[in-house]
Amino acid sequence: MRKIVFIFLAAALILFQTGPAFAENESGRIQNSDKPVIGVILPFSSAFEGIAKEQKNAIEMALSEMQPNVEVIFSDGKDDPAGAVAVFNKLAGSRNPPVAVISCASWASSAIHPLAAEKGIFHIAIASAIIDRTQPGHTIRFTLDAKKEERQLAQYLSRFNRIAVFNMDNGYGNNWAEIIKDNFKEKIVASIAYDPRLKDFGDQLAAIKKKNPDVLVLLSASNAARIAKQARQIGIDAQFVGTRPIERPELLAEPATNGIVYTYPSHSFRHHLIDDYKNAHNTIPTFFGIEAYDAFATLVSAIEEGKKSPETLFDWYAGRTFTGALGEYRFNENGDAVYPYMYKQIQDGSFEVADFQFALLLEKTRQQLNDIFDDMDKTLEYAAEKLTHTGLTGENAQNVLNDLFKQNPHAFDCTTVNREGRIVSVVPDAYCRLIGMDISGEKYIRRLHQTKEPVFSQAIDTMEGFMGFELQHPVFDKHGQFIGSVGMITRPDFFGSVITQKIANFPVEMWMIQKDGKMIYDVNEEELGKNLFTDE
Ligand code: COI
Repeated sequence: MRKIVFIFLAAALILFQTGPAFAENESGRIQNSDKPVIGVILPFSSAFEGIAKEQKNAIEMALSEMQPNVEVIFSDGKDDPAGAVAVFNKLAGSRNPPVAVISCASWASSAIHPLAAEKGIFHIAIASAIIDRTQPGHTIRFTLDAKKEERQLAQYLSRFNRIAVFNMDNGYGNNWAEIIKDNFKEKIVASIAYDPRLKDFGDQLAAIKKKNPDVLVLLSASNAARIAKQARQIGIDAQFVGTRPIERPELLAEPATNGIVYTYPSHSFRHHLIDDYKNAHNTIPTFFGIEAYDAFATLVSAIEEGKKSPETLFDWYAGRTFTGALGEYRFNENGDAVYPYMYKQIQDGSFEVADFQFALLLEKTRQQLNDIFDDMDKTLEYAAEKLTHTGLTGENAQNVLNDLFKQNPHAFDCTTVNREGRIVSVVPDAYCRLIGMDISGEKYIRRLHQTKEPVFSQAIDTMEGFMGFELQHPVFDKHGQFIGSVGMITRPDFFGSVITQKIANFPVEMWMIQKDGKMIYDVNEEELGKNLFTDE
């Protein structure tokens, strides 16, 4: 860092003598070069100074690791949209305007978004859960949208009956409060905004106490430490709940924050940034630093690949999945990052994954798998009805199987099986070699023939060559006579495709066993098919 400062100062001296264009950074240093410029607008002089410093530290770590051929200008966006717009305009009006601007905070990013588009400057929003997008194809956002985070928060909030919301009075807090109020209309007993520069929240907390909430949602950053303390002092005993920005080091020094439950991006803590940051700054980075590091590092990679225009930079991100310090990010077509969230909790002076998180994750996965099986079952039932009219073979039967296959992305193939237990049609065509095969000996077919009811197999070694699950529905002719069945087999990666999405970035593994102990999903493939109860 010292080296970088020195180079900046030397450059400034030369500039003053020769007089070309220059830009001023947050600490007043003056810089100039022909290198591509990245402007970074952070709320240095605001109630969020600690966040801005963490982001700057993380970006500087990426800078010293990557040594990119870019010029970085940090600017102070202060604590409101006007502050951010003022420094953006200054950067945009300089003789070497930035190729890209990174901005922090919903209010700053929302204000810069249309201006950056107008000036042809690529824009990245960090720490911006709320953004009003008016210019498609221009702004990439690393922060998960508040509406998506709220879906997670709502699951936890729904167990309470008297919800009070206490939010910072800015583009983050006010919009978030509205989202919660929309969702929980009749349960909201108080909703109050506070000035984040305040230190004394006594009057507002007294008003909240009168409403006797059973949960108090704090849409706050480091202020939550003071608020929690003052709330407990006046006897508010509600559960405290927070969102991503609440994970600030100040909370760990305040015992009243113990037990706060909050939503947070799930990340694995395995990236070297975590240790490097801790060694350099004596504190663990929060999502603010991690996100800033990833945003900057990816931007530099894109610029180094020759992307400079807003369009090419946007296209570089949109639709891409990459792994950064947070874990896996996927950028959708709008340019928003999507990744899973979890519940965390402050426990005995540390930020921990909430105790109830893991059971919940299992339950949600179970539900999703069951929902998929239900859908498969319904579509099979419908196909069986249609086959009553078409018979099990021929063009029309093939069309029924084609539709069935299209409706079920987790199906490997779909077949009709005659009353003797032989496969008579198959989709896709690539598996036509299965036609004529006799599967009458399979347990599930025997069961179907006996009961004439739908069946769902146990794990089977399929003729297709992998372990799968067969679902079959009986087919009857117009007179109600049993003529055979229609079925589909699950894809080999079925469980994995669902489970890896669920636990992406989580510090956990998930596996599945059948009731008899057979391992039917494990990330380590050599475990598949073994019996958990009997295998040594
Ligand atoms: C947001 O706007 O999403 C933020 O996290 C801003 C932060 C400075 C509180």
